[in-house]
Amino acid sequence: MKCAVKCVSRFLVATPLLFSIAACSEQADLSRDINSPRIPSDLIVLDVYKSRTCGCCKKWIDHAEGMGIEADVHHPSDLNKIKIDQKIEPRYQSCHTAISTDGYVFEGHIPAEVIQKFLASPPKDAIGLAVPGMPVGSPGMEVGDRFDPYDVLLLKKDGSSEVYQHISKPLIAK
Ligand code: CU
Ligand code: CU
Repeated sequence: MKCAVKCVSRFLVATPLLFSIAACSEQADLSRDINSPRIPSDLIVLDVYKSRTCGCCKKWIDHAEGMGIEADVHHPSDLNKIKIDQKIEPRYQSCHTAISTDGYVFEGHIPAEVIQKFLASPPKDAIGLAVPGMPVGSPGMEVGDRFDPYDVLLLKKDGSSEVYQHISKPLIAK
């Protein structure tokens, strides 16, 4: 009888402790759930600066978005100031300028997959990529079946450039 009382009282003491442990671990699980719907780290968001009337820019944005890139579009009154601020020399310039959240620049009709490749491991001393001018057959510059091979240039901090990727045939875009 004595023992039974002791045992019951021990049980009563132990029970709240058990409940609080259970509650604690439940809380931990909840906080993990709240954190889980994170933005995937491979999601690319670009600020795209273009002139309001540019049709090929719009087509390039459609191409980029079709490849899963998110574009925030801006129509600045002075587009050239953006290019100067980003240190994109006239010989590298094109119609639109895109800037990634971590500050890399992407000038002109660059295939989205090349931007994705670049951002996955940006080369040291690079400020970004450029396709100068507007090569026929580049994304957003489709003219029937016409295609002029072109280079995607790697722009470096010192103003120089090198070929990052030669595009010899149309890339199949989704
Ligand atoms: Cu263009
Ligand atoms: Cu453009």
